[in-house]
Amino acid sequence: MGDNLNEKEIVARFALTLIGDAEVIGLGSGTTMMAFLDAVRCWEGRKGRIFIPSSGEIARKAREIGLKIADLEEFEYADITIDGADEIDRDLNLLKGGGGFLTREKILAASSRRYVIIADHTKLVEKLCSRKPLPVEVIRFGSSSTLRRIMERTGWVCRIREAGSSRYITDNGNYIIDLFPDRPLEKPHEVLRMIKEIPGVVEVGLFLSMADEAYVAFGDKVKGIRRGGGPQPGGNAVLIHQEKG
Ligand code: A5P
Repeated sequence: MGDNLNEKEIVARFALTLIGDAEVIGLGSGTTMMAFLDAVRCWEGRKGRIFIPSSGEIARKAREIGLKIADLEEFEYADITIDGADEIDRDLNLLKGGGGFLTREKILAASSRRYVIIADHTKLVEKLCSRKPLPVEVIRFGSSSTLRRIMERTGWVCRIREAGSSRYITDNGNYIIDLFPDRPLEKPHEVLRMIKEIPGVVEVGLFLSMADEAYVAFGDKVKGIRRGGGPQPGGNAVLIHQEKG
């Protein structure tokens, strides 16, 4: 699970305290979410709750634990969704899709009354795409033209994601193109608009103004932030929880 295993476990366990009386719980994907499911496994409160997974791999693990699974066809909304992120900026905008599950995660995020991010401290950045490329899901038909168009529009290096010796295929049967911006994104909203209007693009791994809160582990402490009410120097996120050191 990587170097930040401990922080992931700590923030995953903390996330159980956020669930309250939510009956329908959305599950994002990724290793932090796997740690969350490990925490759920030992949680008495899981009984009687319904879980909506965002990927095949998280659904498999949820089933293994014996959780009651549903999809968004049965429940229009999740009361709360817990999810991980690849990067979190100071306005609580997110970079997601490192694991390839961005489209379902974004639909689930948009269908959640409360969308909460949990992460280890390495995910906090000043601006998105500081460390990771920007994943874009595209349909397979015409993917070379879509790739070329994305490269022309952005001027960035772009690569179709591979898994071993073949192309990575998403749960939706599509490809992922990873975009490597030459510098961190100054105007993520513009980037999102520009890429989304290219034919063949299904979804972009920029989750802007979607997260309600984020909880981030620093060692064994967890700090909570939520989106603020307006532009503030140094970012728009407000501290809502801090465990004493
Ligand atoms: C899945 O496609 C992603 O959006 C994940 O939520 C994100 O990559 C975080 O993953 P980790 O928890 O593995 O860092």
